[in-house]
Amino acid sequence: MVDSLRPHQRIFVALDTTDLGRAVELAQGLKGAIGGVKIGKEFFTALGPEGVHRVCECGLPLFLDLKFHDIPNTVAGAIRASLALNPFMVNVHASGGRRMMQAAAKAANDALLNKRPRVIGVTVLTSMAREDLIDVGLDVEPLEQVLRLGRLAKASGLDGVVCSAKEVVALRGSVGANFTLVVPGIRPAWAAADDQRRVVTPRDAIDLGADYLVIGRPITGHSDPAEAARLIAEELADA
Ligand code: C5P
Repeated sequence: MVDSLRPHQRIFVALDTTDLGRAVELAQGLKGAIGGVKIGKEFFTALGPEGVHRVCECGLPLFLDLKFHDIPNTVAGAIRASLALNPFMVNVHASGGRRMMQAAAKAANDALLNKRPRVIGVTVLTSMAREDLIDVGLDVEPLEQVLRLGRLAKASGLDGVVCSAKEVVALRGSVGANFTLVVPGIRPAWAAADDQRRVVTPRDAIDLGADYLVIGRPITGHSDPAEAARLIAEELADA
């Protein structure tokens, strides 16, 4: 658990758009009210590194959510290439295995002093239920697989994992305090659930033991995104 953060620094806003103007406007308007922006495959495939540079010109930290999953050499190369974007966090699929994660963690060490990104693992996608795991040959409960991959990620030198709020307590018990837990699926009591099925409030997620919250539409879809972020940070201040 990262204890020394101010409440708003725990909020990473998902910029799930291919509209560069909108993304830049959101980032500029949210600076000072959030901890950083999360950029994923939709934005990156459409707008590339140049788009990321434009969004981050305002100085907000970057969570580059490209979920690398390939042979160790290729993932290490991708992590090294990502360092040009000066990310605060990058991620890989933990199911890529120990050697892949070790290569990713080692590649991140090539960053300049104090610029090493946290390398975060994706355990089991929350879109996958028990039947989906069986389909791919894994006869195991999703939570058991999450814990297995969480421990493997830690043993392989990663800095944390992305997980759902309902996995936070068990993961904390399994991997200990000094491991970053990043949690999406967050909805303040005043926001719509959208297509998220199992949501928790920002405050509950932090109380459970999350370090960083990934929040998209409750902020980006609000008529005043900075105000929405401030309301959430206020809620976190009481956590
Ligand atoms: O708009 P919303 O708050 O639902 O956005 C959540 C973000 O977190 C999206 O970028 C989504 O892809 C991502 N995410 C998620 N659930 C996961 C993993 C990632 O919602 N299990």
